Parts: sequence; structure tokens; C-alpha cells
Amino acid sequence: MEIQLQVAQAQDRSEIAALIHGSTNAWYRQHGMGDIFSAGAESCGLFVDVYQQLDAGHHWIARDEQGAICGSCFFHPRETHLGLGIMNVHPDYFGRGIARRLLAKADELAGDLPVRLLSSALNLDSYSLYQRGGFTPYALYQDMAIPVPSQGLELPRLTRGQVRAARLDDLPAILQLERELLGIERQRDIAYFLNDTSGLWRVAVWELDGRIGGYLASVAHPASRMLGPGCCHGEEIALELLGWMLDHHHRGATPVVLVPTPCSALSQAVLRWGGRICELHIAQVKGQAQPPGGVVMPSFLPESG
Ligand SMILES: CC(C)(COP(=O)(O)OP(=O)(O)OC[C@H]1O[C@@H](n2cnc3c(N)ncnc32)[C@H](O)[C@@H]1OP(=O)(O)O)[C@@H](O)C(=O)NCCC(=O)NCCS
Repeated sequence: MEIQLQVAQAQDRSEIAALIHGSTNAWYRQHGMGDIFSAGAESCGLFVDVYQQLDAGHHWIARDEQGAICGSCFFHPRETHLGLGIMNVHPDYFGRGIARRLLAKADELAGDLPVRLLSSALNLDSYSLYQRGGFTPYALYQDMAIPVPSQGLELPRLTRGQVRAARLDDLPAILQLERELLGIERQRDIAYFLNDTSGLWRVAVWELDGRIGGYLASVAHPASRMLGPGCCHGEEIALELLGWMLDHHHRGATPVVLVPTPCSALSQAVLRWGGRICELHIAQVKGQAQPPGGVVMPSFLPESG
């Protein structure tokens, strides 16, 4: 079977949305779990749209001989690394080397930069794909789904600092935090969140005496409802940021946040809020990655290990 890789075009949007939706849900169903995307296939057009705005020309697809789209992967070239995600192959084409070819495209696009991604610890197919591809796990996260009462949450006050909505002029401080705690830079993503006027995204910062010690972004959409990306200097700051964001952006809903497994105090606090651990994710790198400092909360949109 002849498979061609090519850059996705605007007219491919619906077919790709259906592929992401169908492939992911099929994989989880085949392995005895529920659908990840509970809204209709069209909702997954969100990923195509956001990545079209962030990384136009870096979305690669695989087509079969009849022209049907059977694979898709988004690549995110950033100052310090290449981000990779979301990777999907159509279930009828699993095990035929399509993901391996898309991964080779990442190597080509990354050049000398490290490639970073998040992969599900439940998904041994993708874990094996990345192991064979030369990736090394460097951090483990637990996915926690937190039900937020419609009347909101009582916000914890644990520090002397204050959480507030982020402003455009917080950009340099947020970039500095990510450089320090993650060792990466991705101005485009952070500026994108801060400039959003659709209400899809919110960003909060934690501040003390005029200094920013943490930030947290959040997305609220039927295809992706989660807190992150974000990072901060400690677990109490993380909890204050999470509380603020749950209360301001997710009342009456159940978003997910990725909590680093070493942060047991944070995890315990989220469990006391009624959080449930629903999956584990592994941050992986091909090349070098600085061990995460403080509390890092990665996200799937944009995919950020
Ligand atoms: C994960 C996924 C992308 C893999 O796509 P695929 O095209 O079937 O993968 P490939 O055929 O290219 O396989 C890649 C490599 O992994 C290997 N592999 C796959 N599963 C394996 C397993 N359980 N153990 C060992 N090796 C395995 C394959 O043998 C192949 O290695 P090789 O080329 O050296 O033989 C696909 O199953 C999928 O789309 N799943 C649903 C969505 C998803 O989970 N995406 C990943 C999110 S992190």
C-alpha cells in the first residue's frame, strides 16, 4: 500500500477532525475504556483550528492510494524544541508503520533541537512507538478530573500572594518562569493565550510583591476542557492557581489537570475537592530535557511536555 505524507490543507479540516475523533475513541474502546471525545466528531476541528493559527504549514497527514486521510500529526516548532502532538492513525491502518513515518518527519523538522511530547501511560502502542523512535521518559503526571460545583468553589488562601487574571504585559515574566522551571521557551503559545478574545482560553498569574511566581492557562471547549499549561514555584501556589481557574472558568463542569506525581500534597488536596485520577501521562523527550522544577502542569492543547 502506497502511503504519501503531505501538509494538511484547509479543505481537509472535517476529515481530519473525524480521524482524530474516531481513532482516539476507537483505541480507548478497543482497550475497554470509554470515549475520550464525548461530543461529536466535528468538535475535534478545534485542534485543526488552533494549530492552524499557531503552526500553519506544520500539520502533516498521511493519505492512502485512494486519497483517504489515514494519519495525522501536528508539529510545533518552538525556540528551544519541537513539540509533537496529537498523533493519530485510522484504526483500519493501525500497525502498518504510518505513525513511525510521521515520527520520522518530526526528526526531519526538529534538526538539532530536542523533540518533546506527552504520551498516555495506558497506551502501550504509543509508548512503544516512541521507545522505538528513541524517546526517553523524564516526568510522570496523573490526570485528575475535578467536578466543579455550579455555585463555584471556596478558594484556598495558603500563601501571602494573590491570583489574578493575567495581562498582556505579564508575557515576559511568564516566559522567564518557563525558562527557569522547564528550560523551554515558547513565546507564540503564551502570547496566543493572552491575546485570546474568544473566551475559550483564560490565563491567571500568582503574584507577590509585584513578582510573578506562577501562571496557569485553561481551555473550555467540548473537545478539550482542561487546566494547563502552567508552572509555578510550589504546590501551595499551584493549588491557589487551580482553585481560581476552576472557579472562574469551569463552574458546573469537570475539567482535567495533569499533576506531577511527586506533588503528593497537591494531589491530596485535589482528591479532597472530589478529583478522580483518570489516567497517567508521561513526558518524553528525544534529546535533552531539563528535569522540571517547581510544579509543572502540562496540557494537550497545545501539546506541551
Ligand atoms: C498509537 C498509534 C498512533 C500508533 O500508530 P500505528 O501507525 O499503528 O503505529 P506503527 O505501525 O507506525 O508502529 C510504530 C512502531 O511501534 C511498534 N509497536 C506498536 N505497538 C507495540 C507494542 N505494543 N509493543 C511493541 N512495539 C509496538 C510497531 O511495531 C512499530 O515499530 P517498528 O516499525 O519498529 O516495527 C495508533 O495506535 C493510534 O492512532 N492510536 C489512537 C490515538 C493515540 O493513541 N495516539 C497517541 C497519543 S500519545
